[in-house]
Amino acid sequence: MEKTSIAVLVSGGGTNLQALIDAQNSGIINHGRITAVISSKPDAYALKRAEAAGIPAYTADRKALGQGFEQELRRIIRQAGAELIVLAGFMSILSADFTESYPERIINVHPSLIPSFCGKGYYGLKVHEAALARGVKLTGATVHFVNDIPDGGRIIMQKAVEVQDGDTPEALQQRVMREAEWIILPMAVEKIAEEIADKKSEEAK
Ligand code: GAR
Repeated sequence: MEKTSIAVLVSGGGTNLQALIDAQNSGIINHGRITAVISSKPDAYALKRAEAAGIPAYTADRKALGQGFEQELRRIIRQAGAELIVLAGFMSILSADFTESYPERIINVHPSLIPSFCGKGYYGLKVHEAALARGVKLTGATVHFVNDIPDGGRIIMQKAVEVQDGDTPEALQQRVMREAEWIILPMAVEKIAEEIADKKSEEAK
C-alpha cells in the first residue's frame, strides 16, 4: 500500500505536530506519512520538532511574503507531493481560493466543541478565555475539514473535556490538549489518510 503523503502546517509550539510524529512512530498513523512541515513563522519551535524527527521543514513567512504567502504554501505542498494538509496550530485563515483547491483534503484541530467558541478571532488561548468567561462546564476539541468558512467545514471527530473550578486559560488549554487534541488529531489523520490510500488503490485497479 502506498501511504498518503501529509503536509503539516504550523505556526507555534507544535505540540500537535509532536503528537502526529509520535503517532507515526507508534503505528497509530499507519496509512499516512508526514513528508513536509511548513511554518508560517520563521521562529516557530515546531520547526525544531520536525528537524529532530528528520522531516523536511520549510518556512513560508506570512509577514514577509504578504500576498505571495499562499502561493508559497502551494509550491511547497506540490513539491512534497502532499495529498492531505493538516493544520496543527496553524494561525492563519486560508482564502476560499486556497481551500477550494483542496476540497476535503485540509483538516484542522480547533480547541473547543464546535460550534461553540469558533470562527474568526477564536484561536489559541482566546478560545479558552471565552469558554471560561461563558462559564461552560464542558469544552473539548474538534477535528474538522477546512472550507471557506473559518471553523465551518464538516466535523470529523470531537472529544469533550471537563472544565474544573479555578481553571486558568492556560490550565484549561493544557487539559484540552492532553485529553483531547493530542488523541483525536492523530486518530482523525489516520482515518482520512486511510480513506485517501484506499481510494488510490481502487483507482489503480
Ligand atoms: C492548539 O490548542 C490548537 O488547537 C490551537 O492552537 C494551539 C496550538 O498548539 N489552534 C487554533 O486555535 C487554530 N484556530 P501547538 O502549536 O502546540 O500544536
